[in-house]
Order: sequence, then structure tokens, then C-alpha cells
Amino acid sequence: MGKKTAKRANVHVAMAEERPEKAAVRKIWAEQVKKFFPPEEGSTVPLYLTLSGALGLDIKRLVDEGFVQLNPNGSIADDSSNVVVAIERNAHAILEIKRRFPGLKVRETHLGELFRGESPFRFPDGSDRTICRSRVVNLDLDQVLKEASVKPEFDFPVIRWVEKLGLLHKEDPALDWCLCLTLHGETPWDNDLSGRVLTYLTDNFDFDTDFEAACRSNVGDDIIDEIRNGALKPAEQPVSVQQQLLCMFVPKMIADRLRAQGWHITTDYNLAYGGTRHRAPMYTCVLSFRVSQVAATSPHENYRSALRSIMSKFGIIDANGNIECGG
Ligand SMILES: C[S@@+](CC[C@H](N)C(=O)[O-])C[C@H]1O[C@@H](n2cnc3c(N)ncnc32)[C@H](O)[C@@H]1O
Repeated sequence: MGKKTAKRANVHVAMAEERPEKAAVRKIWAEQVKKFFPPEEGSTVPLYLTLSGALGLDIKRLVDEGFVQLNPNGSIADDSSNVVVAIERNAHAILEIKRRFPGLKVRETHLGELFRGESPFRFPDGSDRTICRSRVVNLDLDQVLKEASVKPEFDFPVIRWVEKLGLLHKEDPALDWCLCLTLHGETPWDNDLSGRVLTYLTDNFDFDTDFEAACRSNVGDDIIDEIRNGALKPAEQPVSVQQQLLCMFVPKMIADRLRAQGWHITTDYNLAYGGTRHRAPMYTCVLSFRVSQVAATSPHENYRSALRSIMSKFGIIDANGNIECGG
């Protein structure tokens, strides 16, 4: 890319990133960091692990709110050196974020490498293990929900990474933590994957009729009936329906996959935004994981309670950045 083209691309990225919907999402992320601020004395675990991108606007928000201190020359102050760690795979973005925030810890790698792939038998070690125990993990992914490469298992790399994050936070001393997950809000799944998602949702409606009722009241009977009779074609739906499918499916599957780890899980935000003519459709959620005795002793009730919060936090962020949700 030539210098001029790169500069123009940066301006476009900046304009896109400053949008009110995204600013509202960054405010939500900062709220999560606030819950864990200030860091415990002597702790080596960062507060915030992020895909900050080249511009680091989420880090800037933390600076503005006083969770990250800068020196007069703009570099990260020593006191804040362990508050935030950025992950980045793109060489241009790495250079730019380091230029904007000198002294910022940047792990220059792909998330798949950080998590040591999708295998349930390989885990990060050393400093990668420590950063994976960050109190707030923000996976702001510019990609759709993709299926794992190993079939016929019904699995998604990003959900396998979240399972690993759960296990790592459970290590002694177990730490409460929070996941912020953003995905492109479309479901361009083939027939095979679509069928399995519909079957999965139907099984879960059968398991928890309150979950089904909450989905019906939020997305409407027609969609739920089409899911139940297997007729819904996710890829052919209007984007608003594709986003709703993600709202029902993503937190549900995470709660399901991590239930055996004994967390008390709540969905704090479950939101769709964008999807109009000039805005890409997006999906974002925030889930909290708390260490809980009850979760271990009453797993079924605990799981049902996790499901209850999913649709009560379902909503949208409008083009002005206002959040409209039931909860
Ligand atoms: C959507 S941008 C982040 C925007 C930022 N969170 C904000 O608030 O403006 C995502 C960034 O993560 C990087 N990224 C995406 N997927 C990644 C992966 N699997 N591993 C490492 N970096 C990744 C991209 O290169 C990009 O710079």
C-alpha cells in the first residue's frame, strides 16, 4: 500500500471507528474495567486485554476515564504499565498503536497462537498464560462466527478460546472475569451448519421453556416457529434477523460450554448495532463470570439462571449510540 493510500485508509478507519454506536460499545467496555479498578496490589494480572486496533480508541477511553495514566510525553505511566495489554497481528496496526501509546504492552501475534489453537489439550504458558487471565478480555473481532475446522464436531474457534479463558481464570487463585465479544453480525452459514444451529436452539427451547418464551417475546413467534420446524435459512434472512440469531445463540452456547467449569454466568449486554445502508451489521455481548459455590452445588439452577439473563439483556444500539434493551 502506498503512503497516500495508507493515509486515506486510516482516515476511513478513523471515521468508522468514531461512530456513535461504537463509542457506546467502548463506554460499556470501560464500565467493565471500572468493576476491577484499581488492580489488586502486587497482582501481575492485567485488567484489560484488548484487540485495540491501530487507533486504540478503547485504550484512549480508559485514559479519559482515568483508568490508564499517561506521562506528559503521552507514554504509558509506570503505574499503569500492567493495566492494559494489546494483541495485534497486523504489522501496520502494531507500529501505529505503539506510536500512539509508547510503552504499551503489545503481544504481536494472532489470537489463535496466543490461545495455542483450538485443541483442548494445549494451553498458553509463561506470560501468555498471565495475560489470558486478564480481568476483562475484549475480543473485538472483525469477523463472522466461523465453524471450527475439525468436523463433524459442532464447534467454533472463538468459543473454544472462551472455554480456555474460563479454565485459565479458574486456576488458583480463581478470578472473576468478564468477556466482551464483538462479531460481524451476519450468519452466512451453509445448510449443514445452519441446520445444526437450528437443532441446537430447538433443543434448548425444549430444555428451558422460559428461554423459549423470552426469545419469542423478543424476536417474534414467526422466527421461533421457523427455527423449530427447521425451515429458517439464516443466510437468507434480513440482517436484523441474522443479528437476533446471534443474540440467541452466542451467549447461550458460551453458557452451555462453560457450565461445567462452575461459573456463575450473567449476560450483561446482548446487542445488535449497524446494519443500515452505511453501517456494517454488528453483534456485541458482555458476559460476567463469577466464582461461585452455588454454581458448583446447584449446576442446573445455575445454568437456568444464566439463560434467564441472555434475553433480558437483548437489545439494540441505535445510530445515535442509544442503547435500547429490555433489562
Ligand atoms: C475491530 S479492530 C479493533 C477496534 C478497537 N477495539 C476499537 O475500540 O476501536 C480489530 C483489530 O484486531 C486485529 N485482529 C483481528 N483479529 C485478530 C486476531 N485473530 N489476532 C490478532 N489480531 C486480530 C485487527 O488487525 C484489528 O486491528
